[in-house]
Amino acid sequence: MMNSKRLGLLCFLVSVSLAWTVKGGGMRRRKRQQCAHGVYSHEAFQCCRCQTGHLVLDHCSKGQATQCAQCPDGTFMAHPNGEKSCEHCTHCQHARHLEVKQNCTDKTNTVCRCLSGYYCDKGEDCFTCYSCEKCEGLGVKVACTATSNTVCHEKNSPGGLIACAVIIILVLVATVYVLWRMGCLKKCAMKKRNEDVAELEQLSVLSDDVVLRPYLSKIASVLKLQDVKAVARLTLDEAEIDRQEINHPNNAEEQTYKLLEAWYQKQGERGACKALVKALHNQGRKSDANRVQRIIQEGEEGKMLMS
Ligand SMILES: *[C@@H]1O[C@H](CO)[C@@H](O)[C@H](O)[C@H]1NC(C)=O
Repeated sequence: MMNSKRLGLLCFLVSVSLAWTVKGGGMRRRKRQQCAHGVYSHEAFQCCRCQTGHLVLDHCSKGQATQCAQCPDGTFMAHPNGEKSCEHCTHCQHARHLEVKQNCTDKTNTVCRCLSGYYCDKGEDCFTCYSCEKCEGLGVKVACTATSNTVCHEKNSPGGLIACAVIIILVLVATVYVLWRMGCLKKCAMKKRNEDVAELEQLSVLSDDVVLRPYLSKIASVLKLQDVKAVARLTLDEAEIDRQEINHPNNAEEQTYKLLEAWYQKQGERGACKALVKALHNQGRKSDANRVQRIIQEGEEGKMLMS
């Protein structure tokens, strides 16, 4: 019972679809057989499409099929079409760091890729490639490819390597400083000793027996009051120094002479020359010390020539 009902339904469906095919689909099937790549509309006609890699030379018309031709060099058609021109092949611009990966054919566009050392990670939208990261000082973790930039090793945490580097630098600086100081101290000590020896030699030229008095006036004229004061303070008290100043107001040269004389009396005759030169020297007035010494020496030499 059920089977005969189903069979009836099937017969109905088959007859309906047969009638439909005969009525309207016959033409379509024929067209599909004639046009291997489908049809397109042109004016009143349904024209066959040209195959991939071809363009339409002449649209179809009554009694004439579509005229197709291969795409000229430098152009392509990737699909069956009804177009009268092919698409232009993409030019891979060297200035944008691109090169040809696949040459253009009549059926496929050029495929560009990045030059070595450049990358573009924008997929289909890559019109320009960018320089691969160099990872200077960090090191490459993943090498650069045409479609992905280099991956560098992470910078070490500031607490780690940087602190270590700072400590190393500090130690180096401290070491250099200490070495430099040691070198200098050694050299400085040697220099000072040499100077002292030279001065002692100079001082020994003056005999203890040389009498200072004949040179006092000349010495007072070349020394400043301040310099003589500095020397006088070594043996005289402030009151004595003040007295010399008060006794000769407004006359610095006279004050200088009187102060020098006061110092001389306190110092005593013997070794006075040497003591004066030494005192000036010790007060940091080396050029004055030299000047005084020269005055005395010249004077003594003059005396020896006379006698
Ligand atoms: C593309 O074609 C040119 C010449 O027509 C050839 O020199 C070049 O090697 C080709 N490139 C590729 C990637 O096939």
